[in-house]
Amino acid sequence: MTAMAASDEAAIARTAALFEAPAPTLEAIARDLTRQMARGLVGEPSSLKMLRTFTRQPSGHERGRVVVVDWGGTKARAGLVELGGAGSARILSEESLTFSDADKRGASEPVFDLIAGAVGRVVRAERVEAAPLGFVYSYPARLERIDRAVALASTKGWRLKGLEGQDVAVLLGAALRRAGLERLVVAAVANDTVAALMLQSYRARSESADARPADVGLILGTGTNQAADLGPAGIRNIESGNFDGVAAVETPYDAALDRELDEPRPGAQRFEKMVSGHYLGEILRRTLEDLGRRTARFRWSASLTLATPFAVDSEHLSRIAADRTAALDDVDALLRALGVASTVEERRGVRALGAAIARRAARLVGAALVGTLRFLDADLAGRRTIAVDGSLWGGYPGFEALVRETSVELLGGERAGRIETVYVKDSTSAGAAVIAAVAAAQRSEGCSSA
Ligand code: GLC
Repeated sequence: MTAMAASDEAAIARTAALFEAPAPTLEAIARDLTRQMARGLVGEPSSLKMLRTFTRQPSGHERGRVVVVDWGGTKARAGLVELGGAGSARILSEESLTFSDADKRGASEPVFDLIAGAVGRVVRAERVEAAPLGFVYSYPARLERIDRAVALASTKGWRLKGLEGQDVAVLLGAALRRAGLERLVVAAVANDTVAALMLQSYRARSESADARPADVGLILGTGTNQAADLGPAGIRNIESGNFDGVAAVETPYDAALDRELDEPRPGAQRFEKMVSGHYLGEILRRTLEDLGRRTARFRWSASLTLATPFAVDSEHLSRIAADRTAALDDVDALLRALGVASTVEERRGVRALGAAIARRAARLVGAALVGTLRFLDADLAGRRTIAVDGSLWGGYPGFEALVRETSVELLGGERAGRIETVYVKDSTSAGAAVIAAVAAAQRSEGCSSA
């Protein structure tokens, strides 16, 4: 190896090392998260909102057909779900929509109209006229009732004009009326983390009445967030993506990303910006751009495609990690699709950097879960179940193992062994149906006791 090549290798290794997150640092992060949960819950200053959800654990006996809307990223879905007992939640029909960047920054009405249009096509095809509707709105919202959710500042690159402060159930209801669907009633609004938690509890309890419900719902996709059942304080949407106690693992790339994005605004969603699928590819792109300037490697990172923010996404990251060929053929194909020809050394560099970034994300997730579980049970004396969903969890090879490794480092094998993670794939629509069915039961109890 020439001296120049060796110093380039060293520069890449130094950059990858910036993403290390040693156990003592993660322990401090976990403790901070537990403290901020306590503060958020009593309304003291905290980066964790601990939002109320107005739902409760399902009995497992919920039945019926529910129209569902799942809106939480670049895609939204409308569907019809049948809860059939014995843990079954069948999606009878579904349609998905993709939003453009212009949609994300325009007025809210057209977006709700697009969603209502999809709902209309689903219910007409299935000949449903009147039905409760479960609406999963996966952005921060302050619920005032199960069917009243005031939008807070958006996340994941959305900024609809005039949305903040509006009740999203009212906005969806109005769009349904404009679409001639006045007999569909928005019965419940919930977060995707709550949908994951509720679906897992529904499945477990339908099998056995005394099965333990899920304690935590975790999403690791475009965004990241947790919900947790806090017992007397109810099921809360933590909005853990906004956790700000991450300064100790911040790299210059994270600092620049936070500073340069206007949505979410600088300082907001700090944890999410280091962990979730919307950002991991962008962090990798930024490291390549920087090394392309400082070394003889990755010079192509200045090419038009790669110079574009968010040109690299977390699906790319998953593919890079999954490439087991000696010459990294799939990484090559992926870079070619982005318009660049690379050397095998460069591809190895890309792979090492991607792995370091994803590993830090997984370790941060592990620390955050430990922080939440300690809030529920300081000694982790009992068994705990975490329901997880999202493209990063499901798609990135070895992500779960890295999270588990971190919980073992922080808790020791015995305590960590009491934590069970269940992958509840595609939980949102089915979970929305469970939440709407629970809301219906709560409503009829309310009526009969009145
Ligand atoms: C973002 C949203 C949050 C959602 C998460 C996962 O963090 O603010 O509400 O649960 O993404 O989709």
